[in-house]
Amino acid sequence: MSSPRLFPIALLSLFHCLISAMAGNFYQDIDILFGDWRSQILQGGELVTLSLDKASGSGFRSKNEYLFGRFDMRMKLIPGDSAGTVTTFYLSSQGPTHDEIDFEFLGNSSGDPFIVHTNIILQGKGGKEQEFFLWFDPTKDFHLYSIVWNPKNIIILVDEVPIRVYNNWGIKGVRYPTDQPMRMYSTIWSAEDWATQGGRVKTDWSKAPFTASYMGYNANACVWPSSSSHCPSNSTSPTPGTAWQNQKLGVKGRNMLRWAQKKYMVYNYCTDFRRYPRGVPRECRKSRFM
Ligand SMILES: *[C@@H]1O[C@H](CO)[C@@H](O)[C@H](O)[C@H]1NC(C)=O
Repeated sequence: MSSPRLFPIALLSLFHCLISAMAGNFYQDIDILFGDWRSQILQGGELVTLSLDKASGSGFRSKNEYLFGRFDMRMKLIPGDSAGTVTTFYLSSQGPTHDEIDFEFLGNSSGDPFIVHTNIILQGKGGKEQEFFLWFDPTKDFHLYSIVWNPKNIIILVDEVPIRVYNNWGIKGVRYPTDQPMRMYSTIWSAEDWATQGGRVKTDWSKAPFTASYMGYNANACVWPSSSSHCPSNSTSPTPGTAWQNQKLGVKGRNMLRWAQKKYMVYNYCTDFRRYPRGVPRECRKSRFM
């Protein structure tokens, strides 16, 4: 008789394969946007590399549009000298009054830390920047960067640590993105006039091409347009009933957010009193950590 234990183990590893296969195949999930050969889908669709040289950056975007979801990407940033470069992973709708939720990684000279620049752009208006250092070297390994976007709040996470939350407070005059479907975008481009140490450190083009790697894209999200009871009317979730739809920060999440913001935040529009001499934006008055 065969061992009764073998079967479940075999089954488990089969499930494991199915799940990791589902966790994104770039051939199925994305379109290359620009950059020709500088964007490459490799390893049977598991890896994308984006490169930047003096002539061009590169980028890709999701085939699908989504209205709410959790978006995960594993990224390994440009090693060595990355001054003047910006590597991104973001959500955006289209047009002049678009909404956008940004992760931008500002490069630096060799050995100096990247800055994670986050922004939320609503109806074409930005100005809600928060910036962070990371608590690890993002060029050594792949790390998980996530955006949770549901009707109640936006949560931006690094390796499951929430670094930023933007709430749908319902304050008069404070917007929240609820009605424009977004695509996921990932790009690499040059911003040597401002990205590194305020623009003082320029790109060393002799080190080009600069290359970042992307893996494990997973959109657990409501695809637009379609219909399902788990998603807003006119969109559908491939994985019904998942946690992101009601996700907000609990006690543990708030503690982690406080930790990240106390130790690693380098800029917060909410405390930029020079920029807002007549008072910071209204949503900033709600909570110290957000
Ligand atoms: C680059 O390194 C310098 C020096 O450590 C630091 O002040 C700066 O914030 C870092 N990041 C960027 C993007 O300039």
